[in-house]
Amino acid sequence: MISLKHVSKSFDDGQHFAIDNVSLNIHEGETLVLLGSSGSGKTTLLKLTNRLLDLTGGTIELDGKNIAGQDPIALRRRIGYVFQGIGLFPHMTVEENVAMVPRLIGWPSQKRRERAHELLRLIGLDPDTYAGRFPEELSGGQQQRVGVGRALAADPAYLLMDEPFGALDALTRDTLQQELLTLKQRLNKTIVFVTHDIFEALTLGDRIAVLHAGHLQQIGTKEEILQNPATDFVRELFAKPAQQLAVYGGML
Ligand SMILES: Nc1ncnc2c1ncn2[C@@H]1O[C@H](COP(=O)(O)OP(=O)(O)OP(=O)(O)O)[C@@H](O)[C@H]1O
Ligand SMILES: [Mg+2]
Repeated sequence: MISLKHVSKSFDDGQHFAIDNVSLNIHEGETLVLLGSSGSGKTTLLKLTNRLLDLTGGTIELDGKNIAGQDPIALRRRIGYVFQGIGLFPHMTVEENVAMVPRLIGWPSQKRRERAHELLRLIGLDPDTYAGRFPEELSGGQQQRVGVGRALAADPAYLLMDEPFGALDALTRDTLQQELLTLKQRLNKTIVFVTHDIFEALTLGDRIAVLHAGHLQQIGTKEEILQNPATDFVRELFAKPAQQLAVYGGML
């Protein structure tokens, strides 16, 4: 479990808070969607969780242990991270990108290669065709798959995904969303998935946490949020999608 207690982050010595007193728990095996508009603090919250950023206040615990005292490399081995905007290394091949964390933690080359090829098969890219390619030789959706494969490389229990499908066309996004749901069942990971897309949140989230201007507005299942919005902001945010869902039937 990941447990955030009164977490805050200021980049300017306390004049503004990008994250302001956020407390929430992420349960083992669930997919928690962090939903919020641009600048609401989603990326900041993910980066605090794997110590790419330091907290201004509060604590974050992973499986009951404060992350502040933990070695960042060991921590990141347990937390896979899919960066916003893909973030593949352009001068590394697909195989090298996927085998990045195994290399950092000192796996021998044969084991790295086997793992990379296993992961490429898992994400639907034939290793014979794709292992030696560079990111620019892939489509956007394929690059995004490689980003997911890279995050899974050391078999982390936790996966943080920062708007992984944000830049893709609607059809490709739908496909990758369905693949993620399948992958999730097979791998049994605890996932924090960031998006600003309400329908994506409703499709993927076991629970949804709504963030606005650094404040947690509400956390709950989609039923709880749609039926009992905790704030005016949440009510307005979901008003239109809720209407569409009522008209088209579907997700509830
Ligand atoms: N390194 C930084 N230095 C100063 N301010 C920052 C830094 N990183 C983020 N911020 C500020 O913190 C706030 C939250 O940013 P964050 O990147 O977490 O938003 P986000 O919800 O991920 O937005 P988006 O959907 O656009 O990716 C913004 O006001 C941003 O300008
Ligand atoms: Mg962001």
